[in-house]
Amino acid sequence: MDSFNDILSRPTIFRDRNVLSHHYIPETLPNREAEISKIMQTVSPALKGDKTKNVLIYGKTGTGKTSAVKYVMEKFAAAGTPSKMAYLNCQVYRSRYSILEKIVKEFVPADYKPGYGISYLYEKVLEYVSSDGKGLVCVLDEIDVVRDLDELVYTLTRSNDELKRGAISLIGISNKVSFKDRLDPRSRSSLVGTEMVFAPYTSFQLREILRQRAGMGFAEGAVGEGAINLAAAIAAQDNGDARYALKLLLKAGELADEKGETAIADSHVEGARLLVDEDVSVEAISTLPKHQQIVLYSIASLQSEGGKYSSLSDNGGSRVNGLLSGEAYERYASLAKRCRTEARGARWFREYLNDLEMLGLVTLTDSGKGQRGHTRFIKLACSPQKAMRLIEAHVLS
Ligand SMILES: Nc1ncnc2c1ncn2[C@@H]1O[C@H](COP(=O)(O)OP(=O)(O)OP(=O)(O)O)[C@@H](O)[C@H]1O
Ligand SMILES: [Mg+2]
Repeated sequence: MDSFNDILSRPTIFRDRNVLSHHYIPETLPNREAEISKIMQTVSPALKGDKTKNVLIYGKTGTGKTSAVKYVMEKFAAAGTPSKMAYLNCQVYRSRYSILEKIVKEFVPADYKPGYGISYLYEKVLEYVSSDGKGLVCVLDEIDVVRDLDELVYTLTRSNDELKRGAISLIGISNKVSFKDRLDPRSRSSLVGTEMVFAPYTSFQLREILRQRAGMGFAEGAVGEGAINLAAAIAAQDNGDARYALKLLLKAGELADEKGETAIADSHVEGARLLVDEDVSVEAISTLPKHQQIVLYSIASLQSEGGKYSSLSDNGGSRVNGLLSGEAYERYASLAKRCRTEARGARWFREYLNDLEMLGLVTLTDSGKGQRGHTRFIKLACSPQKAMRLIEAHVLS
């Protein structure tokens, strides 16, 4: 049996694995220089205690939104003024109350006791800001999940009318472009200042990001251009997601290590792709709400039955484009019944399909002209057997 010593003394191609973790923020963020400098420009008045324009940052997952803002936060703190940027992950702090509470706890802990009402917390934040006329920039990451967003935006932006000195501004980050639609017009207009979109990375850009990490994280010569190009191409094709690209590189390194090799080969990157995809879908499937799981199961079971359900298709019979949404709906309705769940209508069903697509579990394509109505073709992103297995293990049981 291996001892820890054996394990630790085994040769490895990693120099520093931490560099590849998604918590790590490198010294520079290649291909986000322009975005970073625009954010810095926009928040700079806050350093002198002035109000800044609010910033809204959109972009798909893994496009560097959080990293860019955290990078700016470091520079902001290094400027050495009393002004502050507060980072709030709204997945954790989901309401106006918990956001104000967190700000008080973090910046004026002496004034914090659990159970205080919202107006007390609000007063404390105002006191904190006006005491030395500082600028407070609240970064609301994943802002779209805040439950009472109208109230939060209203409270924070209107606070400036009550402040004699200092100012509060906001940076909102979201990967849902449409989240503003549910705001009431008044808070929408006070929230919006500068809007920025972080585009998905191209394969070329991902190469640069990977090269930077490979240089720090791996032994010299362990990661060749071939491996980097392949990982970048796979991630660019997928979603232009840097997090995914980095995961590929990390897993590929682990695979090479397991095999005792001194460099990452293309086969390791290919192998890593399978492992990473597997990871992602297990997590996504097991946390799905019930109806979405039933929808996914319906799709998987139809797909696994292959040609049994005939459908229209452009080349007379063989189903090149996947299942038709109509037949998937029928299967969903009957399956829901068997699970003693009331099936929702077709409109909901379309929403569920969109959710599944967002999570990368299915791909949808419009059936195009000549097909009936607004039918779409559905294709499962993983194997139907795997999807069924996971769902059986998690919900339908
Ligand atoms: N330009 C870049 N240079 C180097 N690393 C980057 C860059 N952009 C993103 N990354 C890395 O990719 C990972 C994901 O980035 P980040 O968390 O900032 O994405 P995000 O846009 O906030 O995604 P999400 O919407 O899922 O929160 C992080 O590990 C980050 O370090
Ligand atoms: Mg983020």
